[in-house]
Amino acid sequence: MDNNVPAHKSVMMNEVLEILNPKSNETYIDCTLGAGGHTRAILESAKCHVIGIDRDPTVFSLNEDLYKHYGDRLTLIKGRFGELKNHIFNIGIKKVDAIFIDLGVSSMQLDTPERGFSFRFDAPLDMRMDDSKTTVFDIVNKYKEEDLAKIIYLFGEERKSRRIAKNIIEYRKNKKIETTFELSNIIKNSIGGKYKKIHPSTKTFQGLRIYLNDELKELYQALISSESILNEGGRLIVISFHSLEDRIVKNFIKYNSISEKKYKLEKTELPFYYKKKRVTKPSEIEINENPRSRSAHLRYAYRTSAKAVLENNLHNFIRYGGVSV
Ligand SMILES: C[S@@+](CC[C@H](N)C(=O)[O-])C[C@H]1O[C@@H](n2cnc3c(N)ncnc32)[C@H](O)[C@@H]1O
Repeated sequence: MDNNVPAHKSVMMNEVLEILNPKSNETYIDCTLGAGGHTRAILESAKCHVIGIDRDPTVFSLNEDLYKHYGDRLTLIKGRFGELKNHIFNIGIKKVDAIFIDLGVSSMQLDTPERGFSFRFDAPLDMRMDDSKTTVFDIVNKYKEEDLAKIIYLFGEERKSRRIAKNIIEYRKNKKIETTFELSNIIKNSIGGKYKKIHPSTKTFQGLRIYLNDELKELYQALISSESILNEGGRLIVISFHSLEDRIVKNFIKYNSISEKKYKLEKTELPFYYKKKRVTKPSEIEINENPRSRSAHLRYAYRTSAKAVLENNLHNFIRYGGVSV
């Protein structure tokens, strides 16, 4: 990792700590360790245990200092949170008291040019969050026009997806698309006109990244696993950064929870209860200090005493608003 790349600024820290409400002897999972900002704050708040997971092998060197200080209460795991349950079973843990997910890419990933996440730097097309084989280079150079259009439309919510896909295929007739700038220029030429706030490549890059890293299925799997891993009263806290993710979290909570008021009065078969139905967003102060927080959407729910059932019914992905090609 390049030392000049600034560390990630953790978002909505106060809100996360207030909801998670760390207590001694409890165990929490931070599914998205990143630069360790949230994990550090949680470990500093109480004598609790945190299991920090990340699929990106480069984050672990950033957390060496944290591990030096809290190694007796911190377990680090390299892996995908979609496999949350296996990861904790492998270290002998079956239940935890909170699951926290801070979705999306970290500043380190975005701001390290050679990782190819950003159209702001000219770099090879990559965008892998981990060390898997396929990159965005493979997708844009090998996929059929029809599939490219679908990916860009469904995962990037880009209305001009067909035109972009067509131009990608045209370009490929002469040479391979090797860099972020090459792809960004194809997108800019496809969209045309002058852009104001949002760069024309934003949606397409986002769509390719989400598809490549299978981000929506990962989220879905983690939500489903949370039902069987959380103790009664356990907190599920998710911060998402775009509407595709937020829709899944929102529907997951909507279909699987009742209000706290009702939960106190009646027995339920639903696995979660909520205190607040509406989304929580960062304060104006935080957005001014850290503009990258502006699209953060936080939602949370608490585990009830109901029996876990969701893992037997794994076809809810589309019902919750998930998309696949
Ligand atoms: C927004 S950053 C987290 C920042 C962290 N909360 C902090 O305070 O530094 C998101 C992190 O989640 C990781 N990540 C994204 N999807 C993942 C997945 N499916 N499994 C494991 N880690 C994932 C990324 O590699 C990235 O490091």
